[in-house]
Amino acid sequence: MKISVIGCGYLGAVHAASMAQLGHDVIGVDVDKAKIEALAQGKAPFFEPGLPELLIEGVESGSLRFSTDIADARDAVIHFIAVGTPQQKSGTGADLTYVNGAVDALLPHLKAGDLVVGKSTVPVGTAERLAAIIEPTGAQLAWNPEFLREGFAVKDTIAPDRLVYGVRQTSESSGNPDESSAVALLNEVYAQAIANETPLVVTDFATAELVKVAANAFLATKISFINAMAEIAEVAGADVTELADAIGYDARIGRKFLNAGVGFGGGCLPKDIRAFTARAEELGRGESVAFLKEVDAINLRRRDRVVELVVDALGGSAYRKKVAVLGLAFKPDSDDIRDSPALDVAVRLHGLGAHVVATDPEAIANSRIRHPQLTFGSTADALEGADIVVVLTEWKEYRALKPVEQASVVQGQIVVDGRNCLDVAAWRSAGWRYIGL
Ligand code: UGA
Repeated sequence: MKISVIGCGYLGAVHAASMAQLGHDVIGVDVDKAKIEALAQGKAPFFEPGLPELLIEGVESGSLRFSTDIADARDAVIHFIAVGTPQQKSGTGADLTYVNGAVDALLPHLKAGDLVVGKSTVPVGTAERLAAIIEPTGAQLAWNPEFLREGFAVKDTIAPDRLVYGVRQTSESSGNPDESSAVALLNEVYAQAIANETPLVVTDFATAELVKVAANAFLATKISFINAMAEIAEVAGADVTELADAIGYDARIGRKFLNAGVGFGGGCLPKDIRAFTARAEELGRGESVAFLKEVDAINLRRRDRVVELVVDALGGSAYRKKVAVLGLAFKPDSDDIRDSPALDVAVRLHGLGAHVVATDPEAIANSRIRHPQLTFGSTADALEGADIVVVLTEWKEYRALKPVEQASVVQGQIVVDGRNCLDVAAWRSAGWRYIGL
């Protein structure tokens, strides 16, 4: 199929490369010239395992092209909208400037029979509004949210755990020709996943939009739930990791996303729960998701708690103390620092007068641009003479650190494990004061 992907950020670049891998003829379009130049040479503008290989393969075979000119999307039949929907600068709702701009720019190039497919995470009601603009051209709209996780983005796109199609439905929806042609086109796009019997939900626009935000809201709630339990466990002298293991054995609860620690960050969960709350309030149902404000508050308290633990462990002041910060990305296998709890904690400790030396396998370059006031270095630079070690992203190299080897390098043998990811017994028996979350 001839496919265009409008927006080549995180989602769009992965989607374009994955579609080419699936055998489609793909053009990726973005207004960012530097990004398009890099992608056109098969270079990934961000760290994502597996993506560079797909880009090179697609670009070299000619099935994957990139352009800054949206007119180049005109030959495509399917047009994916994969632009960002960040948090508004002046509020908590989603900023739809890029989505609206992408649709406006695409409009003159649409032809009858085309299918525009929304992938961006949007407030419920957006698809209905966009459909009214798109349908007069003879093209149709579908909403097909994505559920990819950074670090697993290629796998999640090529072999998703479910597909959701939101399509225009009439009251007797089953007989609606628009619905069946949109579904048929999407089935062709995702032929491999369909052949592999990936669960498919065909629904209306509003449900498809809500599925995405509901899924992220649930995941955020799960994390904040276990972090709330961690707050109680701390004062009660209980162990939240054992608690998570024990409740996780109940298949109805499940152990995944029950890792207590410094909390969630990234470009999705934090802004999505805020945008969902803002949209629910607009719809007059703010009380239905009022708990998401608590989810957000619990999450942000975790960062405060890590800072407090570090300061307390240093005897009440971090001033002029050397703090080794291990991890800056919002999660391992990513160089993404958007709303990263790790970077936030590093900046706050620096603000308290600590000499922070921060390290990360992939996220130093991004962190330096955002916070040039911090000192960055290798793991060895960070640990050398440190008064305290703070682990904030659970990269496998930090989990594998040997406490005995590190003991001779640091000044103070204190470790704050902001992700509860270290082997507590090993660190304690090597003489460290271990402080978990
Ligand atoms: C999230 C969702 O998991 C994806 O399904 C969704 O498609 C994506 O957002 C999106 O909307 O695009 P992602 O932001 O890549 O994916 O990251 P997650 O793996 O969900 O992790 C989010 C944050 O939660 C990270 O900071 C992570 O460290 C934290 N987390 C996760 C915990 O603190 N504890 C856990 O048990 C799990």
